[in-house]
Amino acid sequence: MFGLLFLVLSCLGSPVSVASGSVSRTKPVGIVGGHRTQQGRWPWQVSLRTYSYKTGSWVHICGGSIIHPQWILTAAHCFLSQEADPALYRVQVGEIYLYKDQTLLNASNIIIHPDFNVFTKRFDLALLKLTDLLVISKDVRPVSLPEDNITFNSTDQCWLAGWGRFLDYVPLQPPYQLYEVKIPIRDDKTCRRAYRKQKRRDKTRIIFEDMLCAGTLGRGPCTGDSGGPLVCWKSKRWLQVGVVSWGRDCSSRLPAVFSRVQSSLAWIRQQIE
Ligand SMILES: *[C@@H]1O[C@H](CO)[C@@H](O)[C@H](O)[C@H]1NC(C)=O
Ligand SMILES: *[C@@H]1O[C@H](CO)[C@@H](O)[C@H](O)[C@H]1NC(C)=O
Ligand SMILES: *[C@@H]1O[C@H](CO)[C@@H](O)[C@H](O)[C@H]1NC(C)=O
Repeated sequence: MFGLLFLVLSCLGSPVSVASGSVSRTKPVGIVGGHRTQQGRWPWQVSLRTYSYKTGSWVHICGGSIIHPQWILTAAHCFLSQEADPALYRVQVGEIYLYKDQTLLNASNIIIHPDFNVFTKRFDLALLKLTDLLVISKDVRPVSLPEDNITFNSTDQCWLAGWGRFLDYVPLQPPYQLYEVKIPIRDDKTCRRAYRKQKRRDKTRIIFEDMLCAGTLGRGPCTGDSGGPLVCWKSKRWLQVGVVSWGRDCSSRLPAVFSRVQSSLAWIRQQIE
């Protein structure tokens, strides 16, 4: 699970290098296996922040996406409790670098999916309402959500972006530029079987219908990418199909697991209307 681990790590202070740059020297690895992105390519991508008393700054904890001029979609596990206090969070929009001198936005409400289960990780979704409407521009714009009747598979062009780690112990380095990676959606049955086969004593989890698998060995999300959007190019537009939720570890042979956006469309629409 990417969540609890990074919440602890992000409190330990500035994300200084553990294996300083040794990975980035060999090849342009990203998120895991990705590369640096350009301004405006993912205009719905946001960074969710929480205040660190240790560093005296608002540190990145999760990704998220703009789905409406006043609403951010992210993962439920990014918040420490079911009754998260909006005053403890901030949002960065329209910028591919973290920690530039930029105005962070305030939230007025945080809604955790009512069926979120912290143990099974089912319905790992949350909505954050911004205090003010966003000013839409080429760098700040909502992503579309897919209708129920659209299906996605490994042939779709799907991408993930995030400020997460390159590998389990290799955090993103300054200037903290957003990374992107193209990853395939994985077939439900194969993914379910792969996780079931993983007969380890450590927590092997079940893939439920409200989850979606994507990624391959060396390509996928890692700690700090949680809550970020998985988007696919379909019918000439970008559709958000998933929210980064959990995985066995980064760049594992097992695909990463996302909350399936289509399973919660009714709930999302109800909240933001
Ligand atoms: C966010 O809230 C804080 C505390 O109420 C306030 O000082 C700050 O100006 C607000 N920021 C914005 C961008 O509105
Ligand atoms: C999906 O449903 C929408 C209406 O909800 C409709 O406009 C669209 O044509 C449908 N698409 C497909 C591929 O059936
Ligand atoms: C993927 O979905 C498309 C329709 O969107 C379908 O034509 C294609 O056969 C599917 N491919 C696989 C591998 O399931």
